[in-house]
Formats: sequence, structure tokens, C-alpha cells
Amino acid sequence: MEAVTPGEVSVQDEAVDKSTFKECNQIAFYRRQKLLHPGKSLYRALLDSVTLSDENVKFQIIHEENKVLLQVEICEIEGNIFRLKIDEAAPVRARYKVPDVLIKEPTTQRLSISQKEAGILVLSSVNENYKLQVTANPFQIELQSKGETVLSMNSNGLLYFEHLQSPPSARKPTAENKGEAASDSSKEKQEDLGLWQEKFGNFLDIKAHGPSSVGMDFSLHGFDHVYGIPQHTEALLLKNTSDGDAYRLYNLDIFGHKIHDKIGIYGSVPLLLAHKPNRTSGIFWLNSSETLVDISSKAVAEHMPSRSAAETAKQRAVPLTDVRWMSESGIIDVFLLMGPTAFDTFKQFAQLTGTQALPPLFSLGYHQCRWNYEDEQDVKTVDAGFDEHDIPYDVIWLDIEHTDGKRYFTWDKKKFQNPRKMQEHLRKKKRKLVIIVDPHIKVDPTYTLYSQAKDKGYFVKDRNGQDFEGICWPGSSCYLDFTNPEVRKWYADQFAFKTYKESTNILFVWNDMNEPSVFKGAELTMQKDAVHYNNWEHREVHNLYGFYQQMATAEGLIRRSSGKERPFVLTRSFFAGSQKYGAVWTGDNTAEWGYLKISIPMLLTISLAGISFCGADVGGFIGDPEPELLVRWYQAGAYQPFFRGHSNMESKRREPWLFGEKNTQIIREAIRERYVLLPYLYTLFYRAHTAAEPVMRFFSRDQEETCYKSSSGLLRRGRTVLQGLAHQASALLVDCDRKAHPSLLC
Ligand code: GLC
Repeated sequence: MEAVTPGEVSVQDEAVDKSTFKECNQIAFYRRQKLLHPGKSLYRALLDSVTLSDENVKFQIIHEENKVLLQVEICEIEGNIFRLKIDEAAPVRARYKVPDVLIKEPTTQRLSISQKEAGILVLSSVNENYKLQVTANPFQIELQSKGETVLSMNSNGLLYFEHLQSPPSARKPTAENKGEAASDSSKEKQEDLGLWQEKFGNFLDIKAHGPSSVGMDFSLHGFDHVYGIPQHTEALLLKNTSDGDAYRLYNLDIFGHKIHDKIGIYGSVPLLLAHKPNRTSGIFWLNSSETLVDISSKAVAEHMPSRSAAETAKQRAVPLTDVRWMSESGIIDVFLLMGPTAFDTFKQFAQLTGTQALPPLFSLGYHQCRWNYEDEQDVKTVDAGFDEHDIPYDVIWLDIEHTDGKRYFTWDKKKFQNPRKMQEHLRKKKRKLVIIVDPHIKVDPTYTLYSQAKDKGYFVKDRNGQDFEGICWPGSSCYLDFTNPEVRKWYADQFAFKTYKESTNILFVWNDMNEPSVFKGAELTMQKDAVHYNNWEHREVHNLYGFYQQMATAEGLIRRSSGKERPFVLTRSFFAGSQKYGAVWTGDNTAEWGYLKISIPMLLTISLAGISFCGADVGGFIGDPEPELLVRWYQAGAYQPFFRGHSNMESKRREPWLFGEKNTQIIREAIRERYVLLPYLYTLFYRAHTAAEPVMRFFSRDQEETCYKSSSGLLRRGRTVLQGLAHQASALLVDCDRKAHPSLLC
């Protein structure tokens, strides 16, 4: 193990104890929402309040018991997208609305009212293909396409909206709230419901603004296949959840996470896709607070119209999938992507959140990483090893140990005396360097980055208004508040060549630990009651933290080249739209067969959610792969969008030539095949960038044929390779099954 300077943290503990993280039933807003069972909704639409404009249709709904009014807004967006927003009509303070994720204010089209009577409001889309039928009592909305109901909202009555209130202690007793205040003040009940504060182990989350959870149910008619909502170590096809088993979208650093688990790891994209013959639809739930998703597919009886008076009415069983979204706070802002094809749905999501940034060509090559390449000599030796063994590669990576005591943007001058010379050495071979830049900043008044950020007030604050301090690699650290545009600009400036000493234009960046990871924090992340820019609590923005760091980093790399060069930034934490800023990887996997196998559905899921540039650590980060596993992992990784070998500090060295001539030869072939395919891969990325087509995807026979007939030689080559890949992938899965626990079926 490395010697560390006082205060520094050497390596993360062994695989994390499960009790560090919450089970769903330990999440207060989930428990509260689960008290509402499917049934008749208590919300009623006030159709007298309907207003229609070019942009939207608005009306109010009322909760029959608490009488709180909510404002509903429905828009049609160009390209078969509908948007439904629900917010409080008169909140005591504004609720958080996710900024910066949509690439622009969507272009709306004027809906028309085709019926408004007998408690029903029917809205028609511009092309008349879609109708939204709003039923007033109970409030629900059905979205139909040419007479076919595609999805309905609140049909199970699970619309849930906690209106903001003043704290019980600040409320003047009135006839109405007397009972409420008394029951609120019952300590036991409060703790159980976690309205104003919530405990988890020794951690106390104080909710200055009280309960603010939102939720709603969607029924997808005729669908029993749903996908998306990364990131989980789960199969491609989403599973039915049972109580306490919801898919969790909450960015967490889980070192040694297990597979087949619905807990959120590292990144979240709240996009769910539903597919049935002839139709794909999407639900994009734009909310950056902790979110849980319940899924239940079943068969329901559908009446078939009788063809003649003599024929008795028949029934047939059709699938139906119910999806219940529950978020801790914010508003309900949901986009319904109506496809109808899968590729239309990908385009619709990209129209809202942007397409994959076109990667610089070098970044599609092979990357060699390790925690850590020790010093300049080590870098040179590994670099030379690739030449000696005739294995192509493009990028060598430096992990946290290259810095001066985990102070990012600095160099450990004992190990890296002349980083510029080292980069020149790599440059001569047309190779690049990637270095790590994490978001936590060592508390050290002599460290310029820290002192500047401190003076400028750029750190996230704790609930008492002091800079939030947590433990991460450097020991005591503060966390930059990337939600503040001024902080992002300042951060981007740190990448300027004159500011980032000894950096050159072959140096690119890796943003890690940006969930953010806080070693001694609740669930190893930041307290939800920490405070960001504009006084928003961390709970509102949690899932956006890494998104913003990568945004600022990419901007910095673009600016340092005066806008001439495409950046390369890898991030561990992500959100919807992260594709605009670079690549993601699946985090700390383990060198076991089951992890190789699960990497495939995990990457497909991330790809479906708009982030094409994704990969998993080849070989498995934790532990030591047996040679056959390493070889197989190279063979799989060579066909995955982001291709990087990486290993933990405690793993044995595993450069591709360390496992005997035979294995070196197979790995060499796999990496070379990647390079043969580079032009094809680059073309696929061009398609991802311009037409939102995921790079990693299942190819149907028909699509392959179309490609083949209309294609250049390059695509023909690709087709052959894809067939090869399909072949190889099935061989690989057989191997994984043989090696992994038999229950690990994807
Ligand atoms: C985290 C990253 C891993 C990295 C390590 C040290 O565990 O996921 O890739 O090597 O931190 O920086």
C-alpha cells in the first residue's frame, strides 16, 4: 500500500457494507408515498379554469381533502412529444425546476380543444393523430394515438404532491390546522414519516422546507417490455418491483457493488422506454432529486367488439405495465415521447437533451489506465511495452497519485519531475494523456485552488452556512458548487494552459467521485440539507452534481483551445444530457465473470438513455482476473463504445502482455480488430451525434440488411464485424454462464 501524507485516505475500505446504504423502506418520502394505495384519486380537475394559448393548455386541479390547488400545464412539442407539468398553484416558496438539462425551451405547437363537456376535456394534437383526454373526476389523462390508448396518467390514483408548508412551530393555531399541528408534533409520527427531519444511522437530515415529495402513476397499454432508467447492475429488461424493491435513481459511490441490484449507482437518467410490436414510447421524468420507480406488468382483459349481433362478446388478455415515479422534491415535469419507432424515441429524447458529443478520434482507441502509474518512468515503460508487443493503444491515464497530495491540477514533483517532457514523449508517438480531476478540494489554505474558492464563496455550504466539509481522498475536503454558473466558469478557466501548470494539449480529463462521494457522509454522499447556489438544498440537485462538473470541465477544454478542439472528459456520475459533455463508465466493477456479463445490459441501458460513449473497466477494477477472463473482457470491450483497461491500486499489474505469449496474442488481436474498425466506429459516433442513433445497440436482421444494401464498403465491413460480434457475444455469454453463478441470467 502507498505511503500517504497525514490526513490523506489511502484506499477505500473493502467492499462496502450494505448497511451503509438505505433500503427503500428506509427512505421517508417512499414510505409516505406508499401510504397512498391504488384507487380513486383524490384530485379533481376544475375544467372551468381551462385556458388555451399557443404554448399550452392550463387548468387547476384540487385535492378533495386538503383543498390545495395544483396548476396543470400540458404542451405539445414539435415531433410527437407531449409535456405535462404539475406545480403548486400558489407555493409558499418556489419549487425547484431542473435547469440546464434541456438544450433549449422546446418549440410548442398549439393544441386544440375538441371537447369540453360532461367532465371531460379532449385536446387534439396539431396533426390530429393524438388526443389527450382529461377526465375531471377523478383526475386522469389518457393519451391516445388514432383511437388506441397508449398511456394513461393517474389512472391508478397515485398522483401525489406534498405542498410546501411553514414549519409546525411557526404555524399560528387555527381551527383547521389545530389537529394537524398536534399530530405533526407527535415526535414518533414525525420521525416515522420523516416530514421535517429524517434519521439514518447517526445521520440527521433536517428538512428546512419540510416535506415536498411528488409522484404519479403511468399505465402503458399493450406494453410488457420496459427499459432504461440507468444506472443499476441489472438486466436490460426492467423487472417487476415488489414493495421495498423499487429502482432507485440516486447517484451513489458503491465500491464493490453487487450485481442484480436496483440501488442507484453513480449516475441516473430518468428516462424509461416501453416497447411493443409497432410502437416504442418513452417517459422522461425531469427531476434531479432522489427518485424511485416501481414497475408492475400484468395481463388485463380487453373486450373485443363482437362482429355480429349473434356473436357473444369476447375478451382477450393484453399486457399492461404500470410505472410509478416518486421523487423527493421538485415539481412534476414529464415528457411523453410518442415514437412511434425506437429510433424516433431516441431522436425525441435528443431533441430535448442533446445528442452525443462527437468524440475526438483518439478517444475511440484503446485506453490504458491503472490506479496508479507510479511515476514518469513507469509511464514510459508501459508506453514502450505497447510498442514492444506490437499492440496499438492511444491513451495512458494517471490516477489520483500523480498529484501533490490529492491537490488536483498539481503534480507530485517527486514522481513527475517533468510532466511536460513526459507529454512530449507521448506526443511524438501521437499518443495522449488523461489525468484525474475530482470535485473535492483539499482543505489547505496554501493550496491556491482551495483558498481562491474559499474566498470567492464557491463551496457548497452546510445547513449552518459554513463551507460543507467532508472526507475524500485528500482527507478533509470542501466541494465546489458546480450548480453555480460563476463557479463553472472559474473552474473551466483552471484548464487554461497558463493556469494548469505543465499541461499541454495532449492532456485530457477524467472526473471521478462526483456523485459526490463523501467517505463519512450519509450513504457516502453529501448531506441532503447542504446548501447550494440560490439557496437550493442538495436534495434538489443531487443527481445533477456530476453532470455540472463534466459540463464545466468540457467547457474548460474547449476554451483552452479557443474553441478549436473537441474535448474528451470521462465522468463517473451522470444525468440526462451528460452525453453532450463526453463519456461515462460504469464505475468500480469486480474482476469476476458475472461483472463481465452484466456490463453488456448495463451499457445497452446507458446507450438507450442517450449516452452512447460508455464503457466498463476492462478486466474488472477490483481484484485480479484469471487470464481467461481478462482475455474475454478485452474481446468484449473491443466492441464497446469506450474501451479502457483499468485496475485498482491493490490489484496485480495487468498490462496486456503479462499473461503469456498466447494470451498476449489474443488480446493483441482483439485490440487490433478495434483499430481496424475505428473508421466504422467513428461513423457510428457521427450518426449518434447527428441523428441520435445509439452506438451500442441490438441490430435487427432487417436493419442490417438495409445498412448493407445502402452502404459503403465501410458499413459492409461493419456488418461482417457485427455478425462476428453477435457470434462472439453469444460465445462469451455461454462462457459467463459457465463461470458465473447459474442464477446470474441477464
Ligand atoms: C474510484 C474510481 C476508480 C479510481 C479510484 C481512485 O474508486 O471509481 O476508477 O481508480 O477512485 O481514483
